[in-house]
Amino acid sequence: MSVTASAANPLIEVRKVTKRFGGTTALDQVSVTVEAGELLAICGENGAGKSTLMKILCGQYTEYEGEVLLRGQPLRLSGIKDAEAHGISIIHQELNLVEELSIAANIFLGREMVRGGFFLANGEMNRRAGEILTQLECRIPPETLAGQLRIGDQQLVEIAKALSLGSDVLIMDEPTSALTEAESARLDRVIGQLRQRGVTILYISHKMEEIFRLADRIVVLRDGKNVTTVKREEVTPREVAHLMVGRELNWDRQPHGEKDSEYSVVLEVCQLSRRWPQHPREWKLREVSFTARAGEILGFAGLMGAGRTELFECLYGNSDDEVLGDIFLAGKRVRFEHPAEAIAAGMAMVTEDRKRLGLFANLNVGENMTLNSLHQDRNAARIVEKGRETKRCRDMVGQLQVKTAGLQAAIGSLSGGNQQKCVMGRALLTQPQVLLLDDPTRGVDVGAKAEIYRLIRDLAQRGMCVLMASSELPELLHLCDRLIVLNEGRITAEFSAAEATEQAIMEAATVNSAKGRGPSDQNLGGGS
Ligand SMILES: Nc1ncnc2c1ncn2[C@@H]1O[C@H](COP(=O)(O)OP(=O)(O)OP(=O)(O)O)[C@@H](O)[C@H]1O
Ligand SMILES: [Mg+2]
Repeated sequence: MSVTASAANPLIEVRKVTKRFGGTTALDQVSVTVEAGELLAICGENGAGKSTLMKILCGQYTEYEGEVLLRGQPLRLSGIKDAEAHGISIIHQELNLVEELSIAANIFLGREMVRGGFFLANGEMNRRAGEILTQLECRIPPETLAGQLRIGDQQLVEIAKALSLGSDVLIMDEPTSALTEAESARLDRVIGQLRQRGVTILYISHKMEEIFRLADRIVVLRDGKNVTTVKREEVTPREVAHLMVGRELNWDRQPHGEKDSEYSVVLEVCQLSRRWPQHPREWKLREVSFTARAGEILGFAGLMGAGRTELFECLYGNSDDEVLGDIFLAGKRVRFEHPAEAIAAGMAMVTEDRKRLGLFANLNVGENMTLNSLHQDRNAARIVEKGRETKRCRDMVGQLQVKTAGLQAAIGSLSGGNQQKCVMGRALLTQPQVLLLDDPTRGVDVGAKAEIYRLIRDLAQRGMCVLMASSELPELLHLCDRLIVLNEGRITAEFSAAEATEQAIMEAATVNSAKGRGPSDQNLGGGS
């Protein structure tokens, strides 16, 4: 399909589109034009309507008011297949892979290649999938089952799937939210290639730096309405954030208190090692030792495969691997077999992988949030007092500013960022002694992030011990009192808040930690 459109004649035109879900107006008379070959960024707070607009353009939502034009012609898509036939495809925000199928099968799902008119051409599909993965500089074999992949790799497969369609309009709904910086850089290169081929890209992200590196123009939505559309060079990231949230944000790095002897050690980890079965590196974690005090926010930095998630899983009783070494919680030696034991002992964990590990689709917003803390609402007769539960939950929804029609709303009706806030809320409602945060703000907008940081700092001040991993270094630098760098499963550096710089952390994260070993085996499909 050739692209013939000029500035006067945009490729896509959205005219006064309104989309309602029951009583919620997700889009209210939104108008957007998309020029051929441009990269148009869509910005807005969680729940602003970005994904809804994209789902209309990719044929997923067919019921709406208003008009969409493609190359000047009215377009009423009948479904996703129809959109694909018109050359429009999407990389979804919520990853939708079939865990029991291979990477290649997922990429070609619904349009499997066949041989002799009947048999699946598995070899051919694997080869094609391998080519696209190579383009993404991803070295995981295409036969690998999707269920075995970490979330960052799943996101790469979603991207590969969209690329395999060869569309000339590509919608990317937060494609890098689960990617590390190195993986995002690879996607940048792919985007560069696509643009050279003339592909038009609609791009949603909460990462301002990314938007300002990639976009030609920026559309800002707020509460389902157009705020403005601007050329990238005409605005600053700060101005865009302001336009999104409608108020000035506080970006300053807060003063960090020294957490020394007056605070008690809550968590002590001694020589912790975690086996990596059938992997040349043998160990996911190797002789990791550290202490964390009450009131402290301790950060963990590292590249993909460095062992951050693996460490948290170990602490939280969420690992089937052989584990050596000792963990002491409030002076008592512990080794949890299951997360339920960790929760009972005063730990809570927030993961980036909300879909697989975080939320229960068949429970509503309130139920998802109070799930791990119902015991707190039991009265003397051990019966859960509904009123108490509802109040705690409503307070938390307020504190985290979760945008929802109510506690009874289906969890799936919330926007991605608001779902993530619910995962956070559930952990906080358990009032843990130790809070493990593994990339907790994935997909959360800049304004809500600032609120969550304030909340975390507040909790630490009241004595909670917080361990936090993040693939975004600025986030760690902003929040943490102390930083530990993991590199191929080992600790390679530790910094106080005052000493830590991006440069020093990156160096410690990338030095070859095990002397005399062969080339780095990072990114061979391990975790983050
Ligand atoms: N299927 C649905 N049923 C009910 N309400 C919905 C549904 N999908 C979206 N909404 C509501 O529409 C509004 C816009 O949601 P949308 O997912 O478009 O936000 P978003 O801008 O993509 O946010 P995020 O940055 O968190 O991904 C929200 O208030 C959301 O709760
Ligand atoms: Mg969204």
